[in-house]
Amino acid sequence: MSARNKIVILGATSAIAQHCARLWAAEGAGEMVLVGRDAARLQVVADDLRVRGRDMIISTRVADFADPQKIQAFADEIAGAGPPDVVLIAHGSLPDQAACQSDLAACREALEINALSPVLFAEAFVGHMERANRGTLAIIGSVAGDRGRKSNYVYGAAKGLVTRYAQGLQHRLAASAVRVVLIKPGPTDTPMTAHLKSQGVALAPVEAVAARITGAIARGSLVCHAPAKWGLIMMIIRHLPWFVFRKMDI
Ligand SMILES: NC(=O)c1ccc[n+]([C@@H]2O[C@H](COP(=O)([O-])OP(=O)(O)OC[C@H]3O[C@@H](n4cnc5c(N)ncnc54)[C@H](OP(=O)(O)O)[C@@H]3O)[C@@H](O)[C@H]2O)c1
Repeated sequence: MSARNKIVILGATSAIAQHCARLWAAEGAGEMVLVGRDAARLQVVADDLRVRGRDMIISTRVADFADPQKIQAFADEIAGAGPPDVVLIAHGSLPDQAACQSDLAACREALEINALSPVLFAEAFVGHMERANRGTLAIIGSVAGDRGRKSNYVYGAAKGLVTRYAQGLQHRLAASAVRVVLIKPGPTDTPMTAHLKSQGVALAPVEAVAARITGAIARGSLVCHAPAKWGLIMMIIRHLPWFVFRKMDI
């Protein structure tokens, strides 16, 4: 990442996004727009970043994460003040799979925040980036989107939609200078996975995941598995034959 960039982060209170922002602050980013749903939580993140990147311009914005017209108007306003160099779309939530099966409102909410909302934000910003013929749009999917599994297939379906969307966007922009980076973290130690940690699930340190993500964004990689080993693990999972897969408790 070259210095003095304008970086917009959707879901800026996410632990993964916060650690990316810290790395960018240390590298000398020029401006950051931190976007979330809660002003007080955003302020805490902004205060922390102000200490880390002393001459960085930081603003916080509370946005609507569901309404398409409000999302478009929001992106138009942010990009109108100068097209972003990096847009990181990080918001999401890990739903309870059993709740999604018994409560359609929970199922819908999981699909909306993990699939529809990220796509709407990406589409709203990418038009500006395409017209400016510059910038990198990074969107966080998940390894969970690579194959539907009984333990989390509603979340997996949403992240699978993000994967297909990012692939299509990359194809659309192949001839332009705009880069689209699809980020697929494996299980990472953040508030989202606190319940998994207490169950003994191995989680990657968020610092390492963020370093891998910012590296991929700087390079404009098509896909970033974080940590890298998840590329191989998911290739194996994707290719397991059904007669093996169906017996697995995953
Ligand atoms: N941690 C993992 O193991 C893992 C693995 C694969 C992919 N990911 C993905 O990585 C991204 C970041 O996750 P994280 O691990 O950093 O989790 P996190 O720290 O729990 O952050 C989640 C973020 O999503 C926002 N959010 C949740 N529900 C929202 C809603 N209904 N409307 C608006 N914003 C909402 C949160 O905002 P508030 O602060 O206001 O709640 C927060 O900014 C997510 O897309 C997640 O799916 C995480």
